[in-house]
Amino acid sequence: MLKITLIIFLVGVTLNNAVVSTEKIEVSLLESLENQETVDVVITFKQSTKPVLERVERMRFENRGHKITFLKSQLEQLAKESQQGVISILRGNFSSTSFQSFWINNKLFVKNASLELVQLIGNNQDVSEIERELIIKVDGVQDKTIPVKTNPKELGWGVLKIEADQAWNLVGGTNGEGVVVASIGTGVRHTHEALRDNYRSTYGWYDPYARTRNPLDVNGHGTNTMGVLTGANGVGVAPGAQWISCRGCDEVDKSISCSLAALTSCGEWILCPTLWNGQQPDCSMAPNIVSISWNRGGRGNNFYKGVVDAWKAANIIPIFPIGDGGMACDTAQSPGDYEGVIGVGSTTAWNSLSPSSSRGPTSDGRIKPDTVAPGNNVQTICKDSDTAYCSARGTGMAVPHVAGTVAILLARDPELTYDQVLSLLQNNADRELEDEAVCGGTNSTTDWPNNIYGYGSINARRALTALIVGDL
Ligand SMILES: *[C@@H]1O[C@H](CO)[C@@H](O)[C@H](O)[C@H]1NC(C)=O
Ligand SMILES: *[C@@H]1O[C@H](CO)[C@@H](O)[C@H](O)[C@H]1NC(C)=O
Ligand SMILES: *[C@@H]1O[C@H](CO)[C@@H](O)[C@H](O)[C@H]1NC(C)=O
Repeated sequence: MLKITLIIFLVGVTLNNAVVSTEKIEVSLLESLENQETVDVVITFKQSTKPVLERVERMRFENRGHKITFLKSQLEQLAKESQQGVISILRGNFSSTSFQSFWINNKLFVKNASLELVQLIGNNQDVSEIERELIIKVDGVQDKTIPVKTNPKELGWGVLKIEADQAWNLVGGTNGEGVVVASIGTGVRHTHEALRDNYRSTYGWYDPYARTRNPLDVNGHGTNTMGVLTGANGVGVAPGAQWISCRGCDEVDKSISCSLAALTSCGEWILCPTLWNGQQPDCSMAPNIVSISWNRGGRGNNFYKGVVDAWKAANIIPIFPIGDGGMACDTAQSPGDYEGVIGVGSTTAWNSLSPSSSRGPTSDGRIKPDTVAPGNNVQTICKDSDTAYCSARGTGMAVPHVAGTVAILLARDPELTYDQVLSLLQNNADRELEDEAVCGGTNSTTDWPNNIYGYGSINARRALTALIVGDL
């Protein structure tokens, strides 16, 4: 019944507009417009950012700030040229419709688009696809915090397991000092005693939802993860690193909800940070590492690929959870399943894979996760007060262990590339892991890498030792 109505409806539209084509429009978007007046949409253009990224990545600059400034100007120009036709439609007869133009991936987001508008945009020669805007829902249950009593001076089991403390104390060792890490999540309680001293308050916070001036955490998850990354008092892997954050996620009906528009705004802000109000971009303030703890983008879904590709051109290292959709094979989630991001699975204190941790292979047959790290009963801080400690779990908690380890490596050598960092992590991983499982033809006890543990569990001491002795 629904299908029949839809067809008649579309035929009607075709009669009113002589040259209508619907082939660029996602089917589910058309179905939504059958049931509701308007939908929030994302427009992709035929002009890809790839040639720009490849060209700029090869060019030499005096410093990274200059490189990113140039990259941004080239991407802005591409977006301006390819999007101008659609923008003039939006400014013309649809001037009440709000839209946001992004240069990082050459996409245009339109709020409350009607069927008529979607059809008109579909006719533009530069448009290749129109889809509904994705909203990432992060399941709060997976990363629930459980208050526990902890002595703040004691080291968390995850910090001990990956031997981060031993990396700090090596001759030539580091604790992340001089490195800037960023997160994109629910925000961070920046006044917490374990995080207040290493918050980089200059160009340190962006909130696309509410344009707040100072960091805040609407949920608690973002504070949990940043604690493990750079927290003092024994909870953090790289307590010497500075942190900044962008609020890509909101809390709706008690669960975490991240709109693709906000996540993309954060993607641009990471590449070239601005003040809290979006003004005065200064690309020299870009972080070295992005630690992300949301996933659930489906499998093989490229919605964030343009963003991570741009980061890569600027040598900003992206680390994502592989997802909490285990125990079956073929459950690795986007963006953790992308090539060019470090996708992280979660382990328990007993060297097993956490039951919820997703497994590979990817939908196109690549091995994932890339590595695993502690993600169960992880001691960290929480947002309830400036002195609150608690524990949390999920692959989202495994991620900051890896991001902190990368900070330790970059503090020793800031020139390391993504590929060098990945091989240091992988070549020095621990392989004394318990589960025997087979996914995508790889056996977790005999094949390395495999689709259960990747290359194994990260070890900060061994990775840093290899770097110090020049074993790259
Ligand atoms: C705007 O609407 C008018 C009247 O319906 C039409 O003649 C005109 O072509 C439209 N302009 C655009 C840019 O769609
Ligand atoms: C846009 O759509 C949302 C629901 O999708 C609705 O709540 C809102 O009122 C709409 N805004 C306008 C300006 O039409
Ligand atoms: C995986 O490898 C182990 C060790 O060789 C072997 O005992 C086990 O049978 C293998 N599992 C499968 C399902 O092939």
